[in-house]
Amino acid sequence: MSFSKALAGANAVVPLPFKPAALNGLSERMIVSHHDNNYGGAIKNLNKVELELAQITADTPPFVVAGLHQSELTFRNSKTLHEAYFGNLGGNGKRSGAIDKALGEAYGTSARWEEHFRALGAGLGGGSGWAVLELELMTGELRTTWSGHHTQTLATAVPLLVLDMYEHAYQIDFGAAAAKYLDAFFANINWEEVNRRLERAMAAAKVLRS
Ligand SMILES: [Fe+2]
Repeated sequence: MSFSKALAGANAVVPLPFKPAALNGLSERMIVSHHDNNYGGAIKNLNKVELELAQITADTPPFVVAGLHQSELTFRNSKTLHEAYFGNLGGNGKRSGAIDKALGEAYGTSARWEEHFRALGAGLGGGSGWAVLELELMTGELRTTWSGHHTQTLATAVPLLVLDMYEHAYQIDFGAAAAKYLDAFFANINWEEVNRRLERAMAAAKVLRS
């Protein structure tokens, strides 16, 4: 295994993994705008911050260093979460397989987990933040977590299902009607991709906990 150069400012936009016009109830205009402007903007800013960090010396004022690292975390998590969000769209919304079984074991029923996740999404309506279903690597347990401003993520967890609840994710199509966006999001979830993520995360958790 080799490591790529840190602070190279070379992060690249990952294309949408589906045809945006093919989504059910989420418009091509909104998805493309979200991908190109919000996610693409985070990539551009992350690259700029990395290049600024590469210039730090012992004489750089501490508040400048701290501010750059704060921005780096914001844009890097925005990159990771947006890529996971777009990556778990483009499906038929039908939950099945290992993730359905796992959610049933963790929450009583898979439907009960959906209630939790939708409630978190609704709670973020009108504000900003992420709802994330994750596998916590150090415990091997499923978690449904909130993340605000891209930064308050659960440490040592792998995102399995990511929901963007920033207004830019739904305002174009739904105005302030966040509940309608939640319905459309669930109708387009690619649960096959979520199952692939679960399988990889469980393998990683097994190694870390051994
Ligand atoms: Fe977003």
